Amino acid sequence: MSAHGTPTPMTSHPSGALSGVAHVPGDKSISHRSLILGALAVGETHITGLLEGEDVLDTAHAMRAFGATVTDHGDGEWTVNGVGVGGFAEPDAVIDCGNSGTGVRLIMGAMATSPITVTFTGDASLSSRPMARVTDPLALFGTQAVGRQGGRLPMTIVGAADPVPVRYTVPVPSAQVKSAVLLAGLNAPGQTVVVEKEATRDHTERMLQGFGAALSVEETDEGRVITLTGQPELTPQTIIVPRDPSSAAFPVCAAIITPGSDVLVPNIGLNPTRAGLFTTLQEMGADLVFENMREEGGEPVADLRAKFSPDLKGIAVPPARAASMIDEYPVLSVVACFAEGVTDMQGVKELRVKESDRIDAMAKGLRAAGVSVDEGPDWWKVTGLGHGNVPGGATVASVLDHRIAMAFMVMGMATQKPMSVDDGSPIATSFPIFEGLMKALGAQIMRVNS
Ligand code: S3P
Repeated sequence: MSAHGTPTPMTSHPSGALSGVAHVPGDKSISHRSLILGALAVGETHITGLLEGEDVLDTAHAMRAFGATVTDHGDGEWTVNGVGVGGFAEPDAVIDCGNSGTGVRLIMGAMATSPITVTFTGDASLSSRPMARVTDPLALFGTQAVGRQGGRLPMTIVGAADPVPVRYTVPVPSAQVKSAVLLAGLNAPGQTVVVEKEATRDHTERMLQGFGAALSVEETDEGRVITLTGQPELTPQTIIVPRDPSSAAFPVCAAIITPGSDVLVPNIGLNPTRAGLFTTLQEMGADLVFENMREEGGEPVADLRAKFSPDLKGIAVPPARAASMIDEYPVLSVVACFAEGVTDMQGVKELRVKESDRIDAMAKGLRAAGVSVDEGPDWWKVTGLGHGNVPGGATVASVLDHRIAMAFMVMGMATQKPMSVDDGSPIATSFPIFEGLMKALGAQIMRVNS
């Protein structure tokens, strides 16, 4: 299957040393939120460094359908003229969120407390993912939802005409669910309270405060308690989107496993709720340093320098760190193959409901490449073979999942035989320049004509 109908098979051949500077695209989470909050503000929000991947472009399209004026000025510079909290118009057509769970779940929240009816759809991957985790809390505001069995897309949401504020404890560690409830709370009178037992990425909280909403966060025995006062007037902002740590993960991990490599990945957002992979890599013995640590646009930012790391060892990744690196487990499992010993990843059942079942997709590909993987419902373990010893030579299904495709392309740079994916087209959802950027560092990635 392909994101575009035509599969793009790709092969990554063992490469020489990777070197140079890798400018990865803007952060996906912050890009979605910039467009949505810009659409809910009154006046013009100015964004630079927006990720122009398919997921975010689908959200831009959706914001236009709700009545915002969204303009692409080229080279990552965008403006959004918003309609204000409660100002969303009813779209004329179905909202297609493509491959993006973040897009659809945040937009559902943003429209849930306006008196409009909206039908959402997406690709085969998104249409298989659970939406009840969002529509259940939205029902507390008075929102109705009708979807396919199991709460799947396509789904129609009837926004609450007279929303009431809610108090909701998020049952799974999910920034998307937390954000959907907060965005719905924007147009409810009074205070909406969200409690999360495990901290997840906090871009929504930071950005809502930046746009002028009254929002407070308290650490309690219950967890993080986020209190939002509804019906604010959001003030338009100037947003500089930091570069995406989840995209930086690919050139960083490629450099760590490929002999002789030395790669600089500048301007990476290092919000502590996102940076768990880098801590984990350092614990495994990776030669990874943060240069030029600074703060930009309210987010910590640094330049990452990653070098080939000859003495990697497997570790137990603390479950408490899972939320801060949830999108990075596929590429971490690749690094684990080149370490000595077992890398043990526990408390990661959310990986089974991402763009694909990521434990299943990675385990299948790693085993086909000669690596031993054990797995359970919420854990998996990869037994490393050490540098130079990972056979490779497999073709893996990318199952409409950008991070699965990129992880196996990184793996092929350091295996004995090339690694292939049946379809690299999903990479365009989050990292459209991946192939060119990796080739410029010295990677040998080829498209294979089917
Ligand atoms: C995201 C939250 C995470 C993450 C996704 C982006 C966000 O999903 O996997 O890529 O921007 O809020 P969950 O909320 O399902 O954990």
